[in-house]
Amino acid sequence: MLATFELPGGFRVLELKGRVAVITGAGSGIGRAMAECFATAGMHLALADVEAEALDETARALRERGCEVEAECLDVRDSAALETLAERCFTRFGGAHVLCNNAGVASGGPVWEISEQDWDWVIGVNLVAVVHGIRAFVPRMIASGEPGHIVNTASIAGLTCPAFMSPYNVTKHAVVALSDTLRSDLSLSGAAIGVSVLCPGWVRTRIHESDRNHPSGETVDAGEELSALRELVNGFIAGGIDPSVVAKQVRDAVMNDRFWIRTHPEMEPMVRKRCEAIIAGESPPPMLPTEIK
Ligand SMILES: NC(=O)c1ccc[n+]([C@@H]2O[C@H](COP(=O)([O-])OP(=O)(O)OC[C@H]3O[C@@H](n4cnc5c(N)ncnc54)[C@H](O)[C@@H]3O)[C@@H](O)[C@H]2O)c1
Repeated sequence: MLATFELPGGFRVLELKGRVAVITGAGSGIGRAMAECFATAGMHLALADVEAEALDETARALRERGCEVEAECLDVRDSAALETLAERCFTRFGGAHVLCNNAGVASGGPVWEISEQDWDWVIGVNLVAVVHGIRAFVPRMIASGEPGHIVNTASIAGLTCPAFMSPYNVTKHAVVALSDTLRSDLSLSGAAIGVSVLCPGWVRTRIHESDRNHPSGETVDAGEELSALRELVNGFIAGGIDPSVVAKQVRDAVMNDRFWIRTHPEMEPMVRKRCEAIIAGESPPPMLPTEIK
């Protein structure tokens, strides 16, 4: 086994070629771009998404390039389905080395107006599913004794608190905390498994069309005022960076064991300001999503 090598100063580099990457939400956006990037790096892939057609299309395109792909149409909120994915992945490929808990959805509105169903949905997909992914794969990864890496997709909304996005903010802050704790737990347990948390700003994907996977099968009516805000946010997403740029940053962070993956350096002052305000004990001023830039 020679999957990592040490550089001077104790840095490790994880070799990807011939190894196995698992990606949820692989049918679209950042997940699909990560699949393409890891395929280019010579990895085998286990992909999951709740949208059968989009997943099949991703898998077909990658197989045409000669990549070995296990594709499972599943809802990441279903822990048993992720357990089955882990079993199939280990049976077919003999392991899993890079686990990307990436599937995500967004929903908005004032905290008190968001329905119980929406809270359950966003928390289920964005947070509880990340725990399901970890519980299904990490014990097997540890038992294999092989080096590996876990990437959990949070957001710049995991480092800030823009208004009218409470379920999203809550889950993304939680994913940052979960990832940080996971990194400590793995490190203190002596496992050769690194952790990264992906905190992108605006990326050109279909995240603003998350309702397409809403459990009710319906589009959520945001009301007139929020619809205007939503239009502005849609514009930011349309003008966001290409997912392939994010995917390359993820690949580099995995190889070099970097925890924070921040795709938008121009957003750093916003995060610094928040951290300084916390230390100074200052109340946070209200912040609109359109102020994320
Ligand atoms: N696009 C952005 O600006 C942005 C910014 C920060 C963070 N993110 C995060 O990036 C991740 C990927 O989102 P994206 O931007 O590529 O959006 P996207 O909508 O293009 O892709 C998300 C994928 O997740 C899948 N998915 C949704 N619910 C699922 C479920 N229950 N089970 C399985 N799969 C499910 C969707 O079908 C889709 O293929 C999300 O976690 C999102 O919160 C996106």
